[in-house]
Amino acid sequence: MRYGRFDDENREYVITTPHTPYPWINYLGSQEFFSLISHQAGGYSFYRDARMRRLTRYRYNNIPTDVGGRYLYVNDDGDVWTPSYLPVKAELDHFETRHGLGYTRITGERGGVRVESLFFVPVDTNAEIQRVTVTNTSDVAKSPTVFSFVEFALWNAMDDQTNYQRNLNIGEVEVEPDGPHGSAIYHKTEYRERRNHYAVHAVNARADGFDTDRETFVGVFNGLHEPQVPLAGASRGSVASGWYPIGSHSLALELAPGESRTLTFVLGYVENADDDKWADDAHQVINKTGAHELLSRFATAEQTDAAFATLRSYWTDLLSRFTVTSTDDKLDRMVNVWNQYQCMVTFNMSRSASYFESGIGRGMGFRDSTQDVLGFVHLVPERARERLLDVAATQFPDGSAYHQYQPLTKRGNLDVGAGFNDDPLWLIAAVAAYLKETGDLAILDEEVPFDNDDALADSLFEHLTRAFRFTVDHKGPHGLPLIGRADWNDCLNLNCFSTEPGESFQTTENKAGGTAESVFIGAQFVLYGAEYARIAALRGLPDVAAQADAEVAAMREAMLEHGWDGRWFRRAYDFFGAPIGTDQDAEGKIWIEPQGVAVMAGLGVDSSDPTTPEHAASKATLALDSVREMLGTPHGLVLHYPAYTTYRLNLGEVSTYPPGYKENGSIFCHNNPWVVIGETVLGRGDRAFDYYRRTAPAYREEISEVHKLEPYVYAQTIAGKQASRHGEAKNSWLTGTAAWNFVAVSQYLLGVRPDYEGLVVDPQIGPDVPEFTVTRVARGATYEISVQNSGTPGARAQLTVDGAQVDGNVVPYAVPGSVVRVTARL
Ligand code: GLC
Ligand code: GLC
Repeated sequence: MRYGRFDDENREYVITTPHTPYPWINYLGSQEFFSLISHQAGGYSFYRDARMRRLTRYRYNNIPTDVGGRYLYVNDDGDVWTPSYLPVKAELDHFETRHGLGYTRITGERGGVRVESLFFVPVDTNAEIQRVTVTNTSDVAKSPTVFSFVEFALWNAMDDQTNYQRNLNIGEVEVEPDGPHGSAIYHKTEYRERRNHYAVHAVNARADGFDTDRETFVGVFNGLHEPQVPLAGASRGSVASGWYPIGSHSLALELAPGESRTLTFVLGYVENADDDKWADDAHQVINKTGAHELLSRFATAEQTDAAFATLRSYWTDLLSRFTVTSTDDKLDRMVNVWNQYQCMVTFNMSRSASYFESGIGRGMGFRDSTQDVLGFVHLVPERARERLLDVAATQFPDGSAYHQYQPLTKRGNLDVGAGFNDDPLWLIAAVAAYLKETGDLAILDEEVPFDNDDALADSLFEHLTRAFRFTVDHKGPHGLPLIGRADWNDCLNLNCFSTEPGESFQTTENKAGGTAESVFIGAQFVLYGAEYARIAALRGLPDVAAQADAEVAAMREAMLEHGWDGRWFRRAYDFFGAPIGTDQDAEGKIWIEPQGVAVMAGLGVDSSDPTTPEHAASKATLALDSVREMLGTPHGLVLHYPAYTTYRLNLGEVSTYPPGYKENGSIFCHNNPWVVIGETVLGRGDRAFDYYRRTAPAYREEISEVHKLEPYVYAQTIAGKQASRHGEAKNSWLTGTAAWNFVAVSQYLLGVRPDYEGLVVDPQIGPDVPEFTVTRVARGATYEISVQNSGTPGARAQLTVDGAQVDGNVVPYAVPGSVVRVTARL
């Protein structure tokens, strides 16, 4: 069952009912000002850091869910309703939400009044715009009054939700009913002391009234579905003093039949220099120059429309760097629009703010942000560059890393500690992806601090070297990497042994001197250690490269000997040296992560041609065949099988989840693309594409009542085969799934991937996509690649470049500005 449809031409998902199985959200803003907005106008806004600079309040865990947003109440001759359906829930004659790229358009109509609101954050602007058009669709004159509503958060979201003894005294506002561009309300809590920023909620017209005090507007014992000011039909001019500051403007409209009125509401964030904060000597009145400048840019509907057009072309330009046209419209919409869009969002948010991440729990993750770069680097390489340097600066001198850092300060924090031994290797992965995309080897010379300390700065290349060395210098008894707190799987905590409720599995270590080892990091090291060796060679350091290759070879051997269980790769060795992920165990026999990454790294790959006997007998083939047999479900591949049914003290958090959820055997979508890529390495494009389709949201749209979350973006997990709600997604939007699926589909299924010397063209998608064209912009040149694909097992592409046949699968980089025509036949 569906609750809407894709509008491919407009690159929108159109939700046609408010009654989706869960709030379906979108993100506005992709630079410094961000908003989350649900299809019912719920959500909140923040500047750069969802924890430290929260503009508006949102109550997670609320009953009912998703009340708290930017609302517009309509009082039409006593009939009070909200065009976003929530919060009033008056039945609408028409409802539609269109989530587009960086904007959302919500239309509601009732009793002959139609309200269409377009929400967006303009490019290079620290504000959310709400352009509202109210139309009288009836054949009599109408005089509806509209009331805007936002509730201000007191900046620090954590404090805002906990520290009432202080906070209920500090709220302050200023009201400017007759400003130069309409009416404005300023939220200036803490501005008299150490803050140099304020928020403004304005409308580009002289409002008929305002309120800034929540108790006056809503009523102490009322909910947002029954606010007393809109019910009474007139604002009261309340001025907040402590308690709960809000912003509301009311406008009484007179509309002839068919007539429309357009208003622009702005929610903005403005900073002043410390010595320029005040408009008066007494230091009471905010210097509003910045706000007036902002509001002057959205004073007319034409200006707002122009800003919206700029946003549209910003996205058109971004998405033109990789496009596919195939016979499969679901594939096209995932690749051309939604997967890339989600990559932008995950790049911006890491795992900080979504409807499942509260914006206060986590900052930017080291492994998360580095992997996000893999799916983002082709969009805005300069921003990827900055991110790589920021992340690298949170690395410790020994090569390991803070597990996360705060976006506002860019400093590592120890909230979830350090010592996740996979972290450093992801830095190599991300830098390699950046180098291949841009050719910018100079980044390796950038001086980057260790532990955010300039005195410890060294070149980015030195950071990679220490990342590489960290694994080499931290191996266990089997010659495999020590796992530390955990590896990619945050819940495999092999040194934790926690019996205390509430103790963090990620930061607790109850046994000392552990030698628990990770087979996953072993595979990761073979993959990215080889990348490090290539980078060293490119840097003119053949000895360093040769030494690195030798380390990789040693790990390869350890992996094939101690990482192999007989039919698949093992997962780890626990504190006591016992294998995890072995056929000898009754549960957790086989885990997905090492299988995918090992095959990506070429471990156990004896042939890439499935028609040969070496292929059939190889460890890689055995491993991925076992994955298919034991981990496969119609909804994707589960993380391990069988899931744990009892708490295993030696494994940490993983077995705390009921079987089939999260790290205990759900379909953890992040690692499915590793198997997709692995299958392309083995020349089995049909299987690769089959797995791809099982989790890709556009293919799951028809079962939205089962999947529950947005059909246009990936979720972190889908309940696994041992869960009673098998097929149900959780934790949508902020997941490494986005980046890895874009890598899998663009670079391996469609097979177009940047390398150092040129663009590799090596499609492996099986027979279901017989022909397609890819347009790829790389290093300033455009490659038009058309593929004729027989889908025959083992077939690899024969290329012609501008009409001439070439050997191998690399299309050399062309001069910027040129257009290169490539044909691939397989
Ligand atoms: C979450 C984390 C990610 C981790 C994964 C598996 O998605 O953000 O860092 O790798 O869980 O535990
Ligand atoms: C929990 C989650 C895991 C996440 C981690 C972050 O362990 O299960 O997915 O990565 O928290 O700290």
